[in-house]
Parts: sequence; C-alpha cells; structure tokens
Amino acid sequence: MTPMSEFRVTAISSLHAEFSVPGDKSISHRAAILSGLATGISTIRNFLPSEDCLNTLMAMQALGARHEVLAELAGYGPTQLVIHGQARQLSAPSAPIDCGNSGTGMRLLAGLLAGQAFSSELIGDASLSSRPMGRIITPLGQMGAVIETRGENPGCAPLVIHGCALTPITYQMPVASAQVKSAILLAGLFANGITTVIQPAATRDHTERMLASFGVNIRQDGNTISIEGGQTPVACEFTVPGDISSAAFWLVAAAALPGSRLLLNNVGLNPTRTAILKVLGRMGAHMIDTVHHSSAEPSGNIEIHGAPLTGTTILPGEVPNLIDEIPVIAVAAALASGRTVIRNARELRVKETDRISTVVANLRAMGATVSEFDDGMEIVGAQPLHAAAIDSFGDHRIAMAFAIAGLFATGETVIHNTACVNTSYPGFAHHLQAILNHRSAPEDFTLPTLSYL
Ligand code: S3P
Repeated sequence: MTPMSEFRVTAISSLHAEFSVPGDKSISHRAAILSGLATGISTIRNFLPSEDCLNTLMAMQALGARHEVLAELAGYGPTQLVIHGQARQLSAPSAPIDCGNSGTGMRLLAGLLAGQAFSSELIGDASLSSRPMGRIITPLGQMGAVIETRGENPGCAPLVIHGCALTPITYQMPVASAQVKSAILLAGLFANGITTVIQPAATRDHTERMLASFGVNIRQDGNTISIEGGQTPVACEFTVPGDISSAAFWLVAAAALPGSRLLLNNVGLNPTRTAILKVLGRMGAHMIDTVHHSSAEPSGNIEIHGAPLTGTTILPGEVPNLIDEIPVIAVAAALASGRTVIRNARELRVKETDRISTVVANLRAMGATVSEFDDGMEIVGAQPLHAAAIDSFGDHRIAMAFAIAGLFATGETVIHNTACVNTSYPGFAHHLQAILNHRSAPEDFTLPTLSYL
C-alpha cells in the first residue's frame, strides 16, 4: 500500500461472516521484549506483523536478540518466530532505535533501556515525536536513569537514555496508563530491590501476565503491583490471541446492522480489554463470548447479532479498558438512537492523533451531531450519515473507524491516507473488501485466515 492509499466504502445491507483478526498488538510487543530478555529460545505464535510490533522486534534485534521466522503473512512479516533470549545481557545498539508510530514500543523500551549499562537513543515518526514522554521520564528518573529529550517539542522524543544500576521506587501513577506501568515494571527487573507501582485505575495487565508466563515473580494487590529486581525471565512458548481492538471494528459493524451475524474466532478476552463487549451489549447488541483458552491470556470466540442500538454513557472506570475502541464506539453512537456520553477520556488527546478532535471532525463531516468537550464528546445518534471525504490524519484507528461509518452512509465515503492501518491491522483492507463484496449476501461467508492469502 502506498502512503496515499485510500478506502472507498459504500453501504452494506447485510453482514454474515466468520473470520479471525490478526494477533494482539499489546501482547506482541511484550512477547518480543520478554523473549529477547529471557534465558533460552522462545517460540511465539500468531505474532502481529504490524509496523509497530515489527519495530519492537527489530529493536530487540538491535539489542542482540536475534529471531528466526517460522511462518509469515506474505507482504507483511512474521506470524510465527523463535527469539534467542540474551539472558538480560543486552548489547548497546549501534544506531538510534526507531519505534515508528508506537507509543507502546517507545515507552516499554525506555523502561527496559533505563537499567542497561549503556546509552541508547529512541526515535519515532512525527506523531510519536509529539507525544508526552514526561510520564515515563519522571519515574525512570527517580530510579536513577538520565533521560534527555532531544525533540522540538518539550518532553518529547527523540529520547537519549543513559542507563545505570537502578534504585527501586514506589510510584503512584498520575495517569491510568498500561504503558507507564509496564515501563516501570521492566525497569524494576533491573533495580536492586522491590519496585511498586500504584495505578489510579485498572489498566490492561498483559505485562504482568506475560512476566508470570516467563517465570518472573510479580505480586498484585488490587491496583498495586510489585516486582523484585534481579530476576531473569525464562524462555517459553506463547500464542498471541487475536486483537479485540481490531475485532472492535467488525463488532460495531455487525452490532449496528439488525439481522447480521458475525463470528470472530480466537479473540483475546482478557477482562482488562473487554469493556467494548459490555458497552455494545448495553447499546442493545446480542452477543455471546466464550472463553476457550484461559492460560496466560484468556481467548475465545465472540458471536454478535445486530439489533437497533441505543446510546449509552461510558463509565469513568471503563475508559482505560476501552480507550483504543472509543473512535469506533463513537461511530456506533452516531448510528444508535439517543445520546451517548463519553467523558473522562482526556487521554484520547495524546494518542496517535488527538482522537477527540479527529473523531469529532470526521463525524461532523458525515452529518452526525456531536458536542466536543475537553475530556470527551456527546453524540446525538440516529441522524442519517452521508458520504464524505475523510482524512485519517495518519491515525490507524481513525482510518478503520470511519471505514465502518462508511458502511452505513449514503453515497461513497472515501477515506484518504490509509496506509497507517498497517500500524495495527495488516490485512484490514482485505477484510473490508470481502465484506463489501458480500454486501447483501444473506448467508454466512467464511474468510480464510490471512496467512493463507
Ligand atoms: C497500550 C496501552 C494503551 C493503549 C495502547 C496500547 C499497551 O495506552 O492506548 O494502544 O500496550 O500498553 P496507555 O496505557 O498509555 O493508555
């Protein structure tokens, strides 16, 4: 796909499908990092070959952890691989490490690099270079690392990290961020004693679960998590479930189309990520989610049947659990009768784009009635959507959310600048096209998994 690629989307009258979405982005980052740090050789299955995760994989390679590819998604990258762990002995990279568009990659790697006996530099694209890094620099600085910000924007990347032997801290996080928590826990592995993080609200717990899978002792008491330094992760075999944040686009499409039926196989159902299901259920969608595997990361199937949707209020405690799904929830809200209120979500302003203003601008362009607040938005639903020229603003989730809006609009919606979807969902265009091709088929069709394309 070229940087100027676009999606052309028209309305569908039916969605009857069964397929799988690619592997989870958050879990794939952590699998690459912990495998590279471990003793022994780890095997990772269903790794997400998206640009963000490939950058983290290459970062670990630059730090000495080589990998071998066992299977790949043609045109994208590895889906199955082995990673040779360095038993904590990472080597100094010979060049700046490029995290691309990924806040998760940069913040987790910063935590890892803070405790190394060398200096390193993390760089990113224009979006990442404008995102706040003070939230990790403050705690990692308290642990003893010296982190310089060399960007044009104060407190932003490039980051030059002067690692050192770290001092453990107890840190009360001011924002509910899994990235910040994970950076501190990874640094804590290299601190001399017990490091504790206290979250203001529960955030996704993939780092804690994966550390445990790699044999690291980690303690959790409510929102307080502690890790003792000096432990070495031990290689393991890990299968990454499908990404519920990618599934969310199709779940909304099916939920908002009465009479539709969608079965998504092998989706991650970690309870710190499933608030989207609760919200769609509250809005009126009929859904059955069945956990089939509950090892390190619960996973299973989601079957959803469309129904007339009604608006809802997103609860403050739900926000960290569905922060990445808010753009597509806003689309669902525009299709639902009544009002939907999304507040306490100021964090959206510091994602890949300011997702409050990009969602509001695009919904308004398609005819929706939306009020914008500093910390969210209110949508008055069920105003007919019409086609528009939509800009993704280079944000993968904005491109995909408005492709879904286009499935419900009159006329042809053109979403510009869509190459960014490869940040998290390689193959999204293929799935979209398959759904458009079956736009009025009354029977289920099954999409082969992307690896067989
Ligand atoms: C992520 C955490 C979330 C989320 C991001 C992935 C992670 O960010 O928005 O896409 O993998 O830890 P915050 O924890 O900063 O809210």
